[in-house]
Amino acid sequence: MLTRSQQAEEAENTGSNASSNLTMGDVIAARFSRRDWLRGALAVSAITATVSPVALVTASGVQAQTALPKPVFDFKEVTAGAGADHAVAEGYDVDVLIRWGDPVTPGAPAFDPLRQTAAAQRQQFGYNNDYIGFLPMPGADAASHGLLVVNHEYTNEELMFPGLGRQDVKTANFAGMTRELVDIEMAAHGGSVLEIRKVAGKWQVVPDSKYARRITAETPIDLSGPVAGHPRMRTKADPQGRQVLGTVNNCAGGVTPWGTWLTCEENFNNYFMGDVASHPEADKLKRLGIPASGYAWAQFHDGFDIAKEPNEPNRFGWVVEIDPFTPGSTPRKRTAMGRFKHEGAAGIFAADRRWVVYQGDDERFDYVYKFVTARPVDTANREANLNLLDEGVLHVARFDADGAGRWMPLRHGDGPLTEANGFASQADVLIDARRASDLLGATKMDRPEDVEANPKTGKVYVILTNNGRRKADQVDAANPRADNRFGHIVELTPDGGDHAATTFRWEILVRCGDPSVAAVGATFTAQTTKDGWFGMPDNLAVDGQGRIWIATDGNSIGKTGRNDGLWAIETEGAGRGTSKHFFRCPAGAEMCGPYFTPDDQTLFLAVQHPGEADEDDTTAPPATFEAPATRWPDFQPSMPPRPSVLAISRKGGGKIA
Ligand code: FEO
Ligand code: CA
Ligand code: CA
Ligand code: CA
Repeated sequence: MLTRSQQAEEAENTGSNASSNLTMGDVIAARFSRRDWLRGALAVSAITATVSPVALVTASGVQAQTALPKPVFDFKEVTAGAGADHAVAEGYDVDVLIRWGDPVTPGAPAFDPLRQTAAAQRQQFGYNNDYIGFLPMPGADAASHGLLVVNHEYTNEELMFPGLGRQDVKTANFAGMTRELVDIEMAAHGGSVLEIRKVAGKWQVVPDSKYARRITAETPIDLSGPVAGHPRMRTKADPQGRQVLGTVNNCAGGVTPWGTWLTCEENFNNYFMGDVASHPEADKLKRLGIPASGYAWAQFHDGFDIAKEPNEPNRFGWVVEIDPFTPGSTPRKRTAMGRFKHEGAAGIFAADRRWVVYQGDDERFDYVYKFVTARPVDTANREANLNLLDEGVLHVARFDADGAGRWMPLRHGDGPLTEANGFASQADVLIDARRASDLLGATKMDRPEDVEANPKTGKVYVILTNNGRRKADQVDAANPRADNRFGHIVELTPDGGDHAATTFRWEILVRCGDPSVAAVGATFTAQTTKDGWFGMPDNLAVDGQGRIWIATDGNSIGKTGRNDGLWAIETEGAGRGTSKHFFRCPAGAEMCGPYFTPDDQTLFLAVQHPGEADEDDTTAPPATFEAPATRWPDFQPSMPPRPSVLAISRKGGGKIA
């Protein structure tokens, strides 16, 4: 049976992106940059199929290196591999800041895994922490006091609840799920706001903070922007179409310069059940894989039954903005930013100070987006920015074979986005952003995860995690490998250095996987050690020096001989493409949420779903509450594994090196 994390990724749909956007036919390598040549990117081609990348560099005669480039990362890397516990580079401390079940809001009860209740979970830290953002406290030392905002993506019932085991999602048989268990799951979703402070060199959660807050799958959230109030947003419970109960599958996100938190709804299709064939918008639902019936919620909450509330799915799949500095403020779903399976929402200033948010739609053959606000950020007046994200233009990316690229606006009335194609208004364009992008001829990517700009260089990194379903006749220049099991990273440079520009240049930073296996076609440098390479990149952090760190999701002993973790990769100069292993996750976990404090002295990491079974080991018993793959981080026989946020710092102080 699929693990929870695997199931979330598989729950795509019938045919996912069935649009007929042109691929590059069977041209395997329409474009390889000079850098790719030097890295041996053509190792995948027939000519060099048996030559390793290292040998190719030598054989090319171009890059006979006499001295190794000076490393940009000074830490001593950890060994790639497996283990019940985590591992970090020598000389660094790993401190658990908060775990699933720990108290968040004032008066929250202590965690008791054998006596869980929804009421308790609503006050405690949720499950499967993903995105982490740090917002310094105004007027305080930015490096020692602030709000930590954390997403809770989804729940693993088999690891959370005693005596339950994995429910059979394939047959939607949730025999063990009761109303109370479902309500605990709903309370464990969403996000947490924590006030944190550094005391004697260590971060602590401030108890009973006025900012402490839980957002859940039942929190009232306003619909905002062009789609609010639209007939397709109206339900029995909300005849105005202006307020939704809850946010789900909050994967990655972003923070804004005005101190708010963007939390992104990703695999929201997983929460809906019901008969799609008789649904009035069946084709539109299918394009998003609705319903995937991954949870039993619809059995107790009508909103998740598409027969009872046909419009409810339209109210999920958005970016949610939360103002954590205003306790009790109502979060808002920012519909101008489009509806799809949002991975993240990392932003950067355009030349004229408008805010530009890069977004990935994490599904095989889906797209890369950016949203550009209509107005610039007002740095003198916070209030003026609080609805900035309601007006602006959503764009989708096309990557051309010659290394050029274009951002195409999703604007009602432009080109094919007309009534004739089923778009009666801008609301329709935004609700069905995938379908609009299909018609515009956007480039089908290998599962876009984080997309984030490096403010030091202006370059943008598009993380493409993997796509085992891309066939040889579907490869294109930006997605150059068939059966792309290990993913790759595309680097994009906006024309004129302006993130509002509608054109860009692009090239591939690295193709991931084991560079010692020629057939894999990985392009890490020869200086990258056996521990230093990674597969399945997912999240990305940029530190204060403009260096890039990559968190992975999907490595395992069966797939890459290593657990997931955090790697540092060089992007500039001779060392470009050299990667090093900084942190290794405990068994079964994926790495999420890398985020640096402004002084680069603390790195926050989220360890998600520790204790899941190895997806590839079919002989291993399924992981359960009673028999998890690890009991990290407590390692007590009475305590299940707990997704947790870690604070990593250098022993004796100093920047992460
Ligand atoms: Fe929730 Fe795309 O990872
Ligand atoms: Ca995940
Ligand atoms: Ca992710
Ligand atoms: Ca992922």
